[in-house]
Amino acid sequence: MTSNFTGTTVIVTGGAKGIGRGICLGFARAGAAVLCADIDTAAGVELAAEPISGTGEIRFQRADASQASACQGLVDTATELWGGAGVVCNNVGIQPTDCYLPAHELSEAAWDRIINVNLKSAFLMTRACIPGMITRRKGVIINTASVQGLQSAKGVSAYAASKGGILSLTRQLALEYAEYGIRVLAVNPGTIDTPLVDEALAAVGGDEAAARVHMAALHPLGRIGQPEDVANLVMFLASDGASFMTGENICVDGGLMARGSWG
Ligand SMILES: NC(=O)c1ccc[n+]([C@@H]2O[C@H](COP(=O)([O-])OP(=O)(O)OC[C@H]3O[C@@H](n4cnc5c(N)ncnc54)[C@H](O)[C@@H]3O)[C@@H](O)[C@H]2O)c1
Repeated sequence: MTSNFTGTTVIVTGGAKGIGRGICLGFARAGAAVLCADIDTAAGVELAAEPISGTGEIRFQRADASQASACQGLVDTATELWGGAGVVCNNVGIQPTDCYLPAHELSEAAWDRIINVNLKSAFLMTRACIPGMITRRKGVIINTASVQGLQSAKGVSAYAASKGGILSLTRQLALEYAEYGIRVLAVNPGTIDTPLVDEALAAVGGDEAAARVHMAALHPLGRIGQPEDVANLVMFLASDGASFMTGENICVDGGLMARGSWG
């Protein structure tokens, strides 16, 4: 990436591992001050210790993004440290391995947890960061949705609903805040090489290596993605190069959605 984010402050939820980690590192290496929010303290502390050359830095704050007070706490920290949150990446998302179930077998508690972490967190973070962005007449919110928001597969009713909700929320927030110079966008990753996918494969059992080859083959470009692939798109959307883009969602999926069916 060639964009220079020196002077830009970024909050990334679910930032300690997987795609979020890639986003944190991408922005920090491009000069940004990054606040990584996660419930995994060990992984967050480890990420914050990564050497970053230049002006970039990563701080870690333990935060459950499904909790309003934690989201407000993240924006407060970014404000105290750096004067506000310029870019907010609502990246956190879960699909617990014991929740790959038909809808009628999914417990209400599991539904609530998935919706709260995947969807409500984006509302809570938006509510916390928008007042500062309105004051500064500037800001970018980038939501990690999924190809699951566009098409679906069996056994992921809450996850699919949360991702569809994220796409709708993205459009709605874009309209609501465009007049303040605030842009809101979403990215739809295909299969990305992260702990979430590792855990899903392990839970299914069987030949993991063969399952990975099969997953890669589903993507027309013949591989699954890396966190950097998503980070590069997120960074472009946050840059001035995308200053006329808002309310849009973009796939970073190796051509999966172009195939028209992936389940
Ligand atoms: N990996 C994929 O193939 C894929 C595909 C499409 C979309 N996505 C989406 O990308 C995003 C990141 O996925 P990933 O694969 O990197 O997941 P991951 O499980 O590898 O990492 C998610 C991170 O979120 C953290 N987290 C979980 N609950 C949290 C909470 N309540 N508050 C704060 N942090 C919390 C975890 O500790 C972890 O560090 C999610 O929104 C996911 O739905 C992933």
